[in-house]
Amino acid sequence: MSEIITLANQKGGCGKTSTAAALYSGLTLRGFKVLGLDLDPQANFSFIMQAGSNSADIVDVLAGNADISEAVEHTARGDFIAASKKLSAVDVLITGTERASLLKRALKPVAGVYDFVIIDTPPDLGTITINALVASTGVIIPTFAEIFSVQGVLNLFDMVKNIQTALNSDLINRGILITRHRSRVRVQRETAAAIKQVADRAGVKVFSLPIRDSVIITEGASLQRDVFSYQPKSKVALDYAAFVDELLKDLSL
Ligand SMILES: Nc1ncnc2c1ncn2[C@@H]1O[C@H](COP(=O)(O)OP(=O)(O)O)[C@@H](O)[C@H]1O
Ligand SMILES: [Mg+2]
Repeated sequence: MSEIITLANQKGGCGKTSTAAALYSGLTLRGFKVLGLDLDPQANFSFIMQAGSNSADIVDVLAGNADISEAVEHTARGDFIAASKKLSAVDVLITGTERASLLKRALKPVAGVYDFVIIDTPPDLGTITINALVASTGVIIPTFAEIFSVQGVLNLFDMVKNIQTALNSDLINRGILITRHRSRVRVQRETAAAIKQVADRAGVKVFSLPIRDSVIITEGASLQRDVFSYQPKSKVALDYAAFVDELLKDLSL
């Protein structure tokens, strides 16, 4: 069975996509067979992965009009299902009582094929993010250490709990990853500590090493590169490598 990991946070700009790309690449480099899935209509993950010429659309797959294998693109960097602009209209396009479980159903045929499925989500907690969480075995919450993130993280904890109770008992909250961190800025250190406190109280871990703030991430993205394919020896790549290793250790892999 695949580990299906969703990156989620209703805030934009907190590092979901950069982390999805780093995780995809880091796992691939370690020899795992990985499928990437971009569920954000903004298609940033697809852009970084140079993907987007898949023949079937993920929304057609969710609607039951195409098989998932038709949507998988075999790119030079691995297998990928690119985003679709139709994702922004998913609430209109897809209705019915089973609508929270459509992705879970769609992923069934590939569940044994890949070691990992890495899912990037839009900056909200709507139908698409719910589908991702219902289909997943794990969720990772990238967050920026600023004061407004704390409440957002708490809301997301609640949502994950509700999904665990009502829709997907297999879902494990794999933890918070602090991103874009500037350890020399006192307020960021304090906020990171506050996030750790609320996470501890909720029984959720925070990954040991934050991902530092580095222009390499933004430069890489503009060149359609994840951190490992752009600057594998940079400090921020080492931060991401430590994160991937810690996740694998937590998964006993
Ligand atoms: N560690 C980092 N250091 C500096 N900039 C970063 C870092 N991680 C992400 N960014 C930049 O911040 C912006 C938002 O990141 P992104 O991963 O797209 O977040 P999200 O998917 O949550 O919106 C992007 O321009 C990205 O290049
Ligand atoms: Mg994004």
